[in-house]
Amino acid sequence: MAYISDELFNEINMANDIVDYASSFMTLKKRGRNYMACCPFHNEKTPSFNIDRDKQLFHCFGCGASGNFVQLVMRLEGLDFQDAIKQMADRAGIAIPENGTRAGGAAAQQKERIYEMNKLAARYFYDCLNDPEKGRAGREYFAARRLSKKTMTKFGLGYATGDSAGLINSLKAKGYSEADIVSAGLAVSRNEKAVDKFRDRVMFPIINARGKIIGFGGRIMGSEKLPNGVRLAKYLNSPETPVFDKGSNLFALNLAKNSNEKDIILCEGYMDVITVHQAGISNCVATLGTAITENQAKLMLRYANEILICYDMDEAGTKAALRAIDIIASVGGKARVIRITGAKDPDEFITKYGVQGFRKAIDKAMPSTEFRLSLIKREYDINDTDGKIRFVEAAARILASLGDPVEVEAYIKKIAAETGISEQSIVGKYKEIKSKMPRRSPAQTKEAYKKRELMRVNSGRSPAERVSSATLEAEKRVLSLMSASKRLTLEAAEIISPEEFSDKVYKDMAEYMYSAAKKGEEVDPAAVINRFSGDAESENKAGEVFFNREEYTDNEKTLYDLIYKIKQDRLEAQISAEQDAKKIGELLRKKAELTEQQRTKTTNK
Ligand code: CTP
Ligand code: MN
Repeated sequence: MAYISDELFNEINMANDIVDYASSFMTLKKRGRNYMACCPFHNEKTPSFNIDRDKQLFHCFGCGASGNFVQLVMRLEGLDFQDAIKQMADRAGIAIPENGTRAGGAAAQQKERIYEMNKLAARYFYDCLNDPEKGRAGREYFAARRLSKKTMTKFGLGYATGDSAGLINSLKAKGYSEADIVSAGLAVSRNEKAVDKFRDRVMFPIINARGKIIGFGGRIMGSEKLPNGVRLAKYLNSPETPVFDKGSNLFALNLAKNSNEKDIILCEGYMDVITVHQAGISNCVATLGTAITENQAKLMLRYANEILICYDMDEAGTKAALRAIDIIASVGGKARVIRITGAKDPDEFITKYGVQGFRKAIDKAMPSTEFRLSLIKREYDINDTDGKIRFVEAAARILASLGDPVEVEAYIKKIAAETGISEQSIVGKYKEIKSKMPRRSPAQTKEAYKKRELMRVNSGRSPAERVSSATLEAEKRVLSLMSASKRLTLEAAEIISPEEFSDKVYKDMAEYMYSAAKKGEEVDPAAVINRFSGDAESENKAGEVFFNREEYTDNEKTLYDLIYKIKQDRLEAQISAEQDAKKIGELLRKKAELTEQQRTKTTNK
């Protein structure tokens, strides 16, 4: 389908009524300007899900789910953006032209450019691999890993030579600048010079569900340890770019989503996935070098009934599997665990036991609860009375975390049979634990959501760069005020740059709103939220900004106060992380200057 221009999107959006649509999924009650319901995205008994009919936005004050109309359709019906828009267009009787729609804004164009560069890069790596001279080392590596030519082509595998500017030169010849290439994560700046990011590695393109190349993983071919003691990373992945979000994509999902299997197999490694596919099993994916996220779980569940976790059999793999079970359950999904006994990972398992062996392991995949119980069983000696008691206690704790009463009953029977303790006693223990478990109120869910949000923003930051929850809140309120007024946006543009916002969604929103205000344009909330389409966390954040529009008696003063708070908070974090007395002095001077600036700003008005 064609790219949807902002105008067309707006037309389709406005031709539908979000309240009308949502009411077929939930019972809505009008409260003031908004409509409220129990949130369809988390469990609750008192409504905290809000719909703003005028702006066609939704926001849950409990779990933070937020977004515009099309995202509500996507999430309620598990559709992708294109299909959701199509459905809305059909409902309103609007035809979507196959082509000829204007391309989107600057951000959409930048994304498009990165997709193009990635595609050319994949072609370049592929050609290098297949070059008789240049690609020999890469071909030998893949041959040693028993990959067929067909598999290599299917996955678009490639090879990056040791050349420090091979890809750069090839892309430059096609009209891309060094800055472009760095922005795509294909090169890095070193001493003001760009060098190829991937060198001397075999290359795995990462392709999203829509078939676009969003990034690469590159594996070294030799030992990770150099003779001089330096350790190289086994895999090097593309950095996060406007098109590459590691937490929202999966390796090989483009292939797995077309398989006819009802489940999806989740592995840890790229090589695992490739070996499984080569064995003729095509419903297999992997995360992208990070632990599984809720977004990834939801993404898999769009295409699968159940997720079959097939991680390495070591301690780390087992821990990761438990974590994956939790994440999958938290978004309402079911998981089972494939145990590949006798091999360290699926790749080795298939090599050792063949496809038949692997299919048997799939058929015997353990339900997640059984897996969790089997792990605690290893820790206690059931033949010993004390061990038995402690095992039952731990098992009851696991059962208390389950939602399905039938499942609970079935396992209670099983545990009774295994331990010889009566079902009645186990039920008693289960009820006792269950009654002590805090029932989460909307306020608690919200707190938990905020905590997670803060952790996400701060992950990977040095102490000097870390932000507090209050700073984030201030950033959100600044954007919220800006969204209500072009004049305030222009004021804000004078004193705080997009880079000074700590979250990347907020940076992006500030940049967009500044440039719209400078052009004299009104900000359209639905269009801003669309910029983050496909990444639920970011959509939630953007949606919340527009939803939380507060009224202040003096908007201008509030804006200044909030902006200076953000700036002061940042300086304070730097000061408390700084060891060097001289630098602390400088920072303190800056802080005094800032206070002075704020005073003149607010008194001159
Ligand atoms: N990974 C990573 N960076 C590393 C190591 C691992 O991003 N330095 C990610 C990769 O996505 C990799 C996955 O973690 O595919 C699993 O790691 P590992 O089991 O070490 O690699 P395999 O894919 O199994 O590769 P191989 O069989 O070639 O060792
Ligand atoms: Mn592995």
